[in-house]
Amino acid sequence: MAPSTSSAITLSINGEKYPLTVDHRTSLLDALRERLDVTGTKKGCDQGQCGACTVLIDGRRSVSCLQLAVAAEGREITTIEGMADGDQLHPVQQAFLDLDGYQCGYCTPGQICSAVAVIEEHAAGWPSAATDDVRPEAGPPPLTADEIRERMSGNLCRCGAYVSIVEAVARAAATRTGSSTQADPGARTGTGTRTSTGTGAEVAA
Ligand code: FES
Ligand code: FES
Repeated sequence: MAPSTSSAITLSINGEKYPLTVDHRTSLLDALRERLDVTGTKKGCDQGQCGACTVLIDGRRSVSCLQLAVAAEGREITTIEGMADGDQLHPVQQAFLDLDGYQCGYCTPGQICSAVAVIEEHAAGWPSAATDDVRPEAGPPPLTADEIRERMSGNLCRCGAYVSIVEAVARAAATRTGSSTQADPGARTGTGTRTSTGTGAEVAA
């Protein structure tokens, strides 16, 4: 008997359980959009290069077009639909809204999911390729515009809304820490000399 090419799985998405049977080759992105009608997550390139399909898996950002749905069973998946708390937008969503961090909006769900994770990665002290002092005792670097650009560089925006996106991420990060720090969107030192830290920062924004 030929081996089965599909499996019954249950995905946990935004706190809800979704049982489904999928072909083993089905990406998490296609399972979300085509099978479960969870369409907030967008498909851009379908090959891991644009970031439009970014979701959080167990709190870490991931491009869902490169994840197999069967491999996501048992993990907690958070999509853009799961960001708000009822009518209360997530601070990152609110910052994008207040500062016009989008134009057509197609990349925005991925940008917001990525930004949520960026802020947590930075607060946890993860360095990026733009971090000058990576010694553990140096603590988290200032979340400058360069830091935000580098950490968000896996999320492309065909509308070029980058200036407002950087401002929105900076404001949301400041909201989290209670500081009034804002990134200077004009500041760009270009001093990053190391390779990506694997935080999704692969392509210059
Ligand atoms: S659609 Fe997944 S990275 Fe572009
Ligand atoms: S807002 Fe249109 S692609 Fe980013």
